[in-house]
Amino acid sequence: MSVTYEDKHGKKVIAVDGQPFLLLAGEVCNSNSSSLEYMEQVWEKAGRLGMNTLLLPITWELLEPEEGVFDFTLADGLIGQARKYGKKIVFLWFGAWKNAQCYYAPAWVKTNLRRFKRAEVEKGHNGTTLAKFHGMPYTTLSYLCEETNRADARAFGELMRHIRQVDERENTVVAVQVENEPGLQGAAREHSDTADARFAADVPQALVNHMKACTGTMAPDVAEAVRQGACSGSWQAVFGPVAEEVFSACHIAAYIEKVAAAGKDAYALPMFVNCWLDKGQEPGIYPSGGPVARMMEVWRYAAPSIDVFGADIYVPGFLDVCDQYVKLGNPLFIPETAAHKYAGPRLVHAIGRYHALGFAPFSFESIGGSFRASDAYLFGIDVNDPNLDYAQNPDEYCWNNQTLHSLMPLLAERYGTARLQSVISERPEQNVMDFGAFSVQARFADTDPRVNRDEGVCLAIQMSDNAFYLIAYGCSLNFVSNDPDRPCVDFLAYEEGAFRDGTWRRGRRLNGDEAASRCYNEPVLLRASLFAYQ
Ligand code: DGJ
Repeated sequence: MSVTYEDKHGKKVIAVDGQPFLLLAGEVCNSNSSSLEYMEQVWEKAGRLGMNTLLLPITWELLEPEEGVFDFTLADGLIGQARKYGKKIVFLWFGAWKNAQCYYAPAWVKTNLRRFKRAEVEKGHNGTTLAKFHGMPYTTLSYLCEETNRADARAFGELMRHIRQVDERENTVVAVQVENEPGLQGAAREHSDTADARFAADVPQALVNHMKACTGTMAPDVAEAVRQGACSGSWQAVFGPVAEEVFSACHIAAYIEKVAAAGKDAYALPMFVNCWLDKGQEPGIYPSGGPVARMMEVWRYAAPSIDVFGADIYVPGFLDVCDQYVKLGNPLFIPETAAHKYAGPRLVHAIGRYHALGFAPFSFESIGGSFRASDAYLFGIDVNDPNLDYAQNPDEYCWNNQTLHSLMPLLAERYGTARLQSVISERPEQNVMDFGAFSVQARFADTDPRVNRDEGVCLAIQMSDNAFYLIAYGCSLNFVSNDPDRPCVDFLAYEEGAFRDGTWRRGRRLNGDEAASRCYNEPVLLRASLFAYQ
């Protein structure tokens, strides 16, 4: 067996033993995977939600509690549990960075401030500012400290070597996240004497050339700065107003490249980084130098061992972020997103529209409970409104996962082609999927009063010119002939059903008034075979 990272018509998928494997996943709350006993209930919950993969932190502090002494008990235990519950794992390496801080570094790193330097956010302040995050001071290890980089890379390399030893044949672990939401908070770049000297020195010419060559994909202000900047010289001269963020991005990416490369040398699983998004603020408010879309060109240059840039999406403009994260051929992978009632349609749409590698609601353990008030402000949601229910229905989320899992070979075969499409109620104006001879139009709550929910989606898999499988809910459907000589459409077959062991099992056969004008408020998988005539 092997885990590979494969090309499907220009889109990427993870494949296990040659078979595409879409990560229909969930990310656990940060502390849960530190206790195997606690995890039992989490695996069970993941099973009830139909997930095939869990994203699980492995922390540096528990992996290497004393320098050079490695403890793989948790990694082994989690792998054993995943096998017992029939799931895959994506490990999240909480090394130097966790939410742009160094919370999960071991005590021997944290306490040796001389050897493992903190970032000088302000000149002369070794690592801290007075600003606090949840009562704790901002404090980050310096991205310029080679000692830290070496120690972090060594620990990650040991982890990957061990995973290879225990899992190379079974492939329970299918990918790894290197660090967590890296970046610098409090300033756009570090301000130590070393940092100042490097910032004043010449930018490597290869980076200048690379940046000048790819302004076409850049955010407008970054592209403008790169176009206006000098062709050689200091960071300020070459990158002008974005120089400090580019400086941080380049050095953080280079640091993480060393860690990822040490891991890949030991065991070459697909590797990704996740991103704390910028929300239109200044760099330093969001972690400066992290893999935000506007810095992706820098990361591509400085971290070639990173296969995927993932976005942690907790903002209302979910689809806008997805659009930004598929530039430069980056596969869409969402390692974290809110587990509210839009999670289900977004999962389906990530697969159907973006041909995503995977999708994972964060803190999925809360699905089925009440929607977390702490997330509400991010969405502009009034959780006190008694008429609104923002909790994701767990049975429905399970249906999404199980249905997508059952369709996996059909879906993956169509990645990178127009034979897999979807539309979602968050963009009701883009509600038509054109498949050549026929189009499928979904009508959501905005235009069909029979639709009794805001969150809707329709994913269509084209099997032949006139045959489709469709996932639909929160919408009604309209089938349209694109042939002007044969404008009328009728069904040759229209059925509800499910895939079991790769075979279509028909449920109700739909016809007459129960076919044409049907409205789907509950999730359904349909098979439609169409006929156009004059
Ligand atoms: C983003 C982090 O990457 C996660 O580990 C977790 O802390 C969430 N934020 C909490 O909302």
